[in-house]
Amino acid sequence: MAVCKCTGEQVESPQDVQLNELLDHYRGYAGGLIPVLQGAQEIYGYLPAEVLETISQELKLPFSEVFGVVTFYAQFHLKPRGRNIIRVCLGTACHVLGGSKIFQALKDELGVENGGTTEDLRFTLESVACIGACGLAPCIMINDDTHGRLVTSALKNILEQYK
Ligand code: FES
Repeated sequence: MAVCKCTGEQVESPQDVQLNELLDHYRGYAGGLIPVLQGAQEIYGYLPAEVLETISQELKLPFSEVFGVVTFYAQFHLKPRGRNIIRVCLGTACHVLGGSKIFQALKDELGVENGGTTEDLRFTLESVACIGACGLAPCIMINDDTHGRLVTSALKNILEQYK
């Protein structure tokens, strides 16, 4: 729910309307929790506590069950995510060729730790095991783009491409 700046009343945000439509589709359907959580995350960008509360009430499931599913699967996020997701490969090939230096340089540049999101929500930084581009080690992915044979001095220019 959003709060109206003129009246102070709670009003339905466009996202809340979308969530209600999603819930209408899955109400009373036993296997609906995961698709509802996936849809809600697409709508809000992450899963705020009040959204989990709504889902729990509307699907008539205990909050603990909803929360348990969200925390079990890595695909679900309880905190806002950046517009651009940086995945730094720390698999064997990338590690041997300096992946950790790349990771450290990105942590320093963005001022976040592993899994962190910059305050302006521009970037989320994550480490991954192997992105299947070992021939380009050390490499990172930003959204769907692969950047390979990286050196730390190239990072600033690469980050500039993502607003
Ligand atoms: S180890 Fe980095 S892409 Fe495979």
